[in-house]
Amino acid sequence: MTLIFAHRGSAGTHPENTMMAFREAARVGAEGIEMDVQLSKDGEVVVIHDEKLDRTTGVSGFVKDRTLKELQTLNAASSYAGKGCEERIPTLDGLLKWLYHTHLFCIIELKNTFFMYPGLEAKVIRLIRAYEMEERIIISSFNHYSLVFCHQLAPEIETAPLYREFMYMPWVYARAIGGSAIHPSIRSAPDSIIQSSMDDGILVRPYTVNKEEDMKRLFKLGCSAIITDFPEKAKIVRANYEK
Ligand code: G3P
Ligand code: CA
Repeated sequence: MTLIFAHRGSAGTHPENTMMAFREAARVGAEGIEMDVQLSKDGEVVVIHDEKLDRTTGVSGFVKDRTLKELQTLNAASSYAGKGCEERIPTLDGLLKWLYHTHLFCIIELKNTFFMYPGLEAKVIRLIRAYEMEERIIISSFNHYSLVFCHQLAPEIETAPLYREFMYMPWVYARAIGGSAIHPSIRSAPDSIIQSSMDDGILVRPYTVNKEEDMKRLFKLGCSAIITDFPEKAKIVRANYEK
C-alpha cells in the first residue's frame, strides 16, 4: 500500500508546521507527517519551513536570529489569524513528545541549504534517539552532504535525498550516499524511475502530490509513499486504488 505523509502537517487545510496541522494528519488517518527543521539563535531545533519568519508569522527577520523564547512569542498561524488561529512554532522536542504516543511515521527535513546550521544533524539525531524513534523517522534534505553526515552519525536512521530535477538512476545515487529512499519532486518522478527504484530496493516518496490525477497514478503503481498537503483527500482517492 502507498503510505500517505502529510506535508508540513496538513498544509493544504491547516497552518503549516504547527501542532494543529500535525494533529489533523493524525485525525484523518495519514500514516506519516513531514516537517522542516532549523536552529534558533540559541541552538534549539525548531519546526518551521522558511528561513525568514515573514510568510508564516507575519514578522520580518530570520529564524536563526531569534532565541527560542523570542520565536515562541510569534503566531505561527498568522495567515490564519482571521480564523482565530493562534499557534506556537513547535520545537522538535515537543513534537516528538507528541509523536511518540502516535503510530505515525515522520520525515524530518533538515532545512540547511541556505544556512548550514552547524550542529543541526547531531541535535536532531540526539532527539530521535532520546525518544527511541529511530524506526519511525526518516531524515531528508536537499543538502546531501548533510545526509551523508547523518548516515555516518546514525546509520540506523533512514536517510533520503530530496531533489527537484530529473536525475539519472537516482536509486544508484541514493545508495551511494547511504540513503534507502529517494524523495523526488512529482515533476521528476515518472513511472519508469519509480518502478526501477523500487525494484532495486530503494523506496520512493514523491512530493508534493496534491493533484488527484497524480495521486491516482502513484497509487496505481504502488509507489512506496506520497507526500501531500491534502492527506484526507489522498485517503479517499487511495481507497479505490489499494494494492
Ligand atoms: O519533503 C518534501 C518537501 O517538503 C520538500 O519541499 O519546500 O516543501 O520543504 P519543501
Ligand atoms: Ca519540507
